[in-house]
Amino acid sequence: MDDWKQRLCFALPLIRQAGTILRGAFSLRKQGLYRKKSETDPVTDTDVELEAFLRKEILTKFPEETFIGEESANSVDKFDHEPCWILDPIDGTANFVHGISNVAISLAYSEKGQVVMGIVYNPIQEELFTAVRQGGAFLDDVPITVSDVDNWNEAIVCTEFGSDRSVAKSTMMVENLKLVLDEKVQGIRATGSAALNLCYVAAGRFDVYYEYGPYLWDIAAGSLIVEEAGGVVVHPTGSKFDPRSRGVLATNQKFWKKLKFPPY
Ligand code: IPD
Repeated sequence: MDDWKQRLCFALPLIRQAGTILRGAFSLRKQGLYRKKSETDPVTDTDVELEAFLRKEILTKFPEETFIGEESANSVDKFDHEPCWILDPIDGTANFVHGISNVAISLAYSEKGQVVMGIVYNPIQEELFTAVRQGGAFLDDVPITVSDVDNWNEAIVCTEFGSDRSVAKSTMMVENLKLVLDEKVQGIRATGSAALNLCYVAAGRFDVYYEYGPYLWDIAAGSLIVEEAGGVVVHPTGSKFDPRSRGVLATNQKFWKKLKFPPY
């Protein structure tokens, strides 16, 4: 664990530096310039700049290790075997483009297919979530825990609609949303950032977050933060979680047995 903590200490000043760049672009509204990775999925110059900066710093310090970044999207196959750094330079890029402050830099470090260190930083709202495996989860250095809500009518359930607008995906999302609404939940939310959704479950703000669609870099850090806050992370069908499976369900210890979504 000491080695993982040292990695956290190494990464934190870099994440703060990246956060300053992100905040500057956000406040200047420079985020308006963007390209599209797909019809509905934007990428900005700031995503690319932050990834290049963090990639260079990390690989200079750890040249033998693997770097997996959203914008370079390579080396995911190394996740099972090699020490990996996994970065989403801006999780919530669509929010960033629209001047909505739910954005985060998400950085994880994994060994042999297990995430052991995670950082999720929202530099606009100034919230820093961190965890090291077996070391607890923190928001700005204060320990956090998941909620203990177990009634649907006291629960805030979060989901996301991602960027896939296929009929099959839309149908699945509407059907799953109906399952949740029929339980008469207190509220449904979507921050627009998978990493922040996970951290909000970890901090007890949300009681459940589920989504079919996020990638490894969206959820690697946040999933560890939920587990270290005492929560449970599984696949939406209830099976074992694999951060590469494009599916996540995160909740507290009481809720997770009540929840299961059909396979997609
Ligand atoms: C996306 C966001 C969004 C989620 C998608 C992610 P990006 O990440 O986290 O909330 O619904 O699944 O891909 O593209 O903003 O880094």
